[in-house]
Amino acid sequence: MTDRELIEKAVEARRFAYAPYSNHKVGAALVGKSGKIYLGCNVESAAYSPTNCAERTAIFKAVSEGELEFTAIAIVGGMGESLSELCAPCGVCRQVLAEFCDKDFKIVMGTPERITVSTLGELLPYSFGKANLAE
Ligand code: THU
Repeated sequence: MTDRELIEKAVEARRFAYAPYSNHKVGAALVGKSGKIYLGCNVESAAYSPTNCAERTAIFKAVSEGELEFTAIAIVGGMGESLSELCAPCGVCRQVLAEFCDKDFKIVMGTPERITVSTLGELLPYSFGKANLAE
């Protein structure tokens, strides 16, 4: 699958974003090593802090279905129906991605017309992780 096709999957996922409080709608498409693609959207709460980001929705869906290894994620977001040029993952989502993904895990962002590619290692350098807890 091309970066553009993966971004288009994230656009598809964004249709279901539940964001009545911020109106910032995000979609994510996560590629498992099995080849399966998991879609996620943000799900907000009237109490605000229980809100779940699109990226974590996709990861939690995948892990809850037994997939633990991933190669790439595409993320799109923006206010209302418009798409921002770049919607990068928040710090919490970067940390959750680091639980399951290597430094070379690919992060594809932007819009179908303008794509930016990075890696988890670039977006979360010097990260804390399970290696820190090894004996
Ligand atoms: N949001 C995401 O879904 N992913 C991110 O990486 C950044 C923020 C959502 C959370 C909230 O519903 C809305 O965007 C505004 O912060």
